[in-house]
Amino acid sequence: MINFNEPPYTGKEIEYIKQAVESKKICGDGAFTKKANQWFEEKTGTKKCLLTTSCTHATELAALLADIKPGDEVIMPSYTFCSTADAFVMRGAVPVFVDIRPDTMNIDENKIEAAITEKTKAIVPVHYAGVSCEMDTIMAIAKKHGLKVIEDAAQGVLSKYKGRFLGTIGDFGCYSFHETKNYSMGEGGALLIDHEEDIERAEIFREKGTNRSKFFRGQIDKYTWVDFGSSYLPSEMNAAYLCAQL
Ligand SMILES: Cc1ncc(COP(=O)(O)O)c(C=O)c1O
Repeated sequence: MINFNEPPYTGKEIEYIKQAVESKKICGDGAFTKKANQWFEEKTGTKKCLLTTSCTHATELAALLADIKPGDEVIMPSYTFCSTADAFVMRGAVPVFVDIRPDTMNIDENKIEAAITEKTKAIVPVHYAGVSCEMDTIMAIAKKHGLKVIEDAAQGVLSKYKGRFLGTIGDFGCYSFHETKNYSMGEGGALLIDHEEDIERAEIFREKGTNRSKFFRGQIDKYTWVDFGSSYLPSEMNAAYLCAQL
């Protein structure tokens, strides 16, 4: 029998989870989450990495940060996992599916411009099976039309395009650490942020609309509700599992 997938297990996961439990800090943004975020920042050169509860949630965060509104159109490949579309449909946007290339199974970059209308807000390239999309062309089209690029790099963690890590080329990158992926934390993901000015808003959306991240860094003396948001941070036990693999 050949299993569809074996969840990655490298040997130190249980020890790290024990350390998380014994630290008595098992909610989000403890030592293991910080370690994982820093690991990806140093490895990939992204401005900011924020662990999330899934790649789906990382993409939802990216949709919020890109100010996707009802009626906006978002271009994505016709062949992908449903989460790529979900994150934008949840904001009331319309997914516009563009055909894929038979050689890479990725969005055909030469068919993107024909799908752009005055309602188009973003392009979401999906790096299927870790094979990169043609990012130079996609970034040039986005620049020409003033569109955001959100890379669905769920399957592309640590894969590269012309020497650059997937997820670090567009405005935002989304990773998955689901059980089926090469690096895992059970359920989990990460948002990579390319622009300094998006970081604070991302932290607020991820922490229920509060500025708690600033509070934890000692930048303010109490935290408050400053915007809308949700809860996108994973527990320390999940982050510990991931750290064992990193
Ligand atoms: C291309 C793609 N996007 C998004 C996702 C969603 O990832 P997650 O399960 O971490 O939400 C997956 C998961 O398989 C995927 O393959």
